[in-house]
Amino acid sequence: MGQDTREAAMRLKREHDAVVLAHYYVPAKTQELADFVGDSFALARIATTCDASTVVMAGVRFMGESVKLLNPGRRVLLPEPRADCPMAHMADPAFVARCRAEEDDIAVVCYVNSTAELKALSDVCVTSSNAVAVVRALPQRSVLFIPDENLGRFVAEQVPEKRVILNPGCCPIHRDISPASVTAAKERHPGAVVLAHPECSSAVLAMADVAGSTAEIIGAIEASDATDFVVCTVNGVGHEIARRCEGKGKRVHFPSPAPCCPDMAAITPEKVIACLETGSGEVALPSCAEAARAPLEAMLELAA
Ligand code: 13P
Ligand code: SF4
Repeated sequence: MGQDTREAAMRLKREHDAVVLAHYYVPAKTQELADFVGDSFALARIATTCDASTVVMAGVRFMGESVKLLNPGRRVLLPEPRADCPMAHMADPAFVARCRAEEDDIAVVCYVNSTAELKALSDVCVTSSNAVAVVRALPQRSVLFIPDENLGRFVAEQVPEKRVILNPGCCPIHRDISPASVTAAKERHPGAVVLAHPECSSAVLAMADVAGSTAEIIGAIEASDATDFVVCTVNGVGHEIARRCEGKGKRVHFPSPAPCCPDMAAITPEKVIACLETGSGEVALPSCAEAARAPLEAMLELAA
């Protein structure tokens, strides 16, 4: 990224009292423009504590929507409003209603990778870094977990005292990381530590030494004495790992083909500059805002 882009971003942020938040999956050069880079949970939390009047959310739609729900008084801009997470739509409201009708004492737990409409039907939100702790802390014994089946199954295994009903949704990028590609990567790099995001299939998770959110994967690599790592999540995390582990001789490998999220990849530095300049991509408060905010706030409380 040229000095000009960096300077333009600094100037625009000052002029518009704006802060730029970025997810670890967006392109490296976009991460470099950000004031804060993090996983979904850290981004949701930091947006409630920073004091800028404009928040640019360099991430997909549900991330911008969560920031707006939690900060209705702030202007929230998405550099690429068409960048959406396909999994965010993968639950049927009628299925949620059926589960609620069939059982009185059930909590609907909604992964933040979801539309505001799905959040509005839920009792509490979770991210991959707090899902186990939040579900464990719920008073209800039965849980409907939407929309991600893989994360739901991962949580169910960690919290066996709960009856977890799964929903058939998934992240297409993590679903496509095959056990064979992980085996091949391990063969190419004998002794490598395998780390996987819980959106991966149960077969891939069974091969992992560490399962966790993007921040947990990055932190585990930083803290490890090993030199080689097979990372089963979107390759955008490589930038933060390289930044934190510079000069430490650590090598990160991705299963082939390297997992790439096209929606996250679409969030370029040029689009960050453009939305700061023109105010484009503003996130409107959805009509279900009140109902959708409550489960996000419940998550922040339970996971504090
Ligand atoms: P994290 O919550 O781990 O940052 O993951 C977000 C995501 O979209 C995973 O695909
Ligand atoms: Fe959604 Fe998967 Fe992209 Fe994450 S990696 S934003 S879950 S499509």
